[in-house]
Amino acid sequence: MPTHPVRYLTGITTTGTPHLGNYVGAIRPAVEASRRAGTENFYFLADYHALIKCDEPARIQRSTLEIAACWLAAGLDPEQVFFYRQSDIPEVTELTWLLTCVTGKGLLNRAHAYKAAVDKNVAGGSDPDADVTAGLFMYPVLMAADILMFKAHKIPVGRDQVQHIEMARDMAQSFNHLYGEHFVAPEAAIDESVAMLPGLDGRKMSKSYDNIIALFAPPEQIRKQIAGIVTDSRAPGEPKQVEGSALFQIYQAFASAEETQALRAAYDSGIAWGDAKQLLFERIDREIAPMRERHDALVNNPVELEKILRNGAEKARVLAKPFLGELRAAVGLRSLAARPDTAGKARTAKAVLPSFKQYREGGRHYFKLVDGGGRLLAQSAGFDSPQQAGQLISQLKSKGLAGLEAGLEFAEGVAPGEVSAALELLSQPR
Ligand code: TRP
Repeated sequence: MPTHPVRYLTGITTTGTPHLGNYVGAIRPAVEASRRAGTENFYFLADYHALIKCDEPARIQRSTLEIAACWLAAGLDPEQVFFYRQSDIPEVTELTWLLTCVTGKGLLNRAHAYKAAVDKNVAGGSDPDADVTAGLFMYPVLMAADILMFKAHKIPVGRDQVQHIEMARDMAQSFNHLYGEHFVAPEAAIDESVAMLPGLDGRKMSKSYDNIIALFAPPEQIRKQIAGIVTDSRAPGEPKQVEGSALFQIYQAFASAEETQALRAAYDSGIAWGDAKQLLFERIDREIAPMRERHDALVNNPVELEKILRNGAEKARVLAKPFLGELRAAVGLRSLAARPDTAGKARTAKAVLPSFKQYREGGRHYFKLVDGGGRLLAQSAGFDSPQQAGQLISQLKSKGLAGLEAGLEFAEGVAPGEVSAALELLSQPR
């Protein structure tokens, strides 16, 4: 049994309206996974990434609203996980710059999405970089910042994203090599058991094929769309094949093993396509209907949704802020009062600066302050939430010890002056 929970993190690009393919392939498995014991789960709305693909402000906003509502309606519990909007964590953009400076341009030249754009231009006789923004080029660095910021171990993604995770690993290693062990090297986690959902025309359900069924479309619209799923021309009474039947595959993604078996038998005995479509509609509706109410309530009450996301961001920033402070110090963006290290680059700031470490014990949240050599200086009282602990940490950093001694217990043999001096080193003009 590992003592530290395994951290899972994944981003959801906020373009478009979620469809059944997103639900079956990403949302549903992620919500289930978020309940596993021994894990910590981070899900965020990747709206900075959305800007790379979309320059319509209203669509960005609308899509963020709809996607957030879908995840919550599907059962994601924001109290149990970290659920936030990327752009609410400014530390992510700051980390993007630190990573940019340790990332070879050549590495980014090899990114599939960028290369595809260049190849297309070259094939069409245009300038290789025509219409390629620096945002597209930098996409992998921003994504690495998302991941490395929270020291995530496992990144559940589709196959098309594996290269990006490998690049994030590279960046983590380059940075660690230069500045000491700060980052965890992440790994892609690909769920082989999740089937690809076909769309109305039998190809993969995808907005770019215009063959989707929106997850929370009104039931009547879903019924109509299901009526439009391609089938063959076999008449009622003629046996039908489940192989290659989009209708069957979609049904299977929602049904239990017994239900699927029953539909298979119905195909054999010649069910009419119209009846099979009715069964599919009912099966999907049975799963979606209970979530629709929550979805609609959230979409119609953006104030509540906004509050949920802000809370999530606050929770995430309890981790992001001190970590970014550590990274800034590591690269040399530090208080001029801090002793410059003389030991060479590789064993740097981390060894010089004191640090706060948050932890949890018996359901309470604590932190300790250790000096640059790892010696315990002080320990906090217990808090109900990591946010409260984080708040005292930031006060200590900004104000020093002044009047805050009550919340701390000094380690044996440590004088208050030592603690003050350590805090002074940590106070950065930020
Ligand atoms: N690029 C991912 C996608 O298109 C979305 C994403 C952004 C992401 N940042 C991430 C996924 C960090 C995992 C981890 O699907």
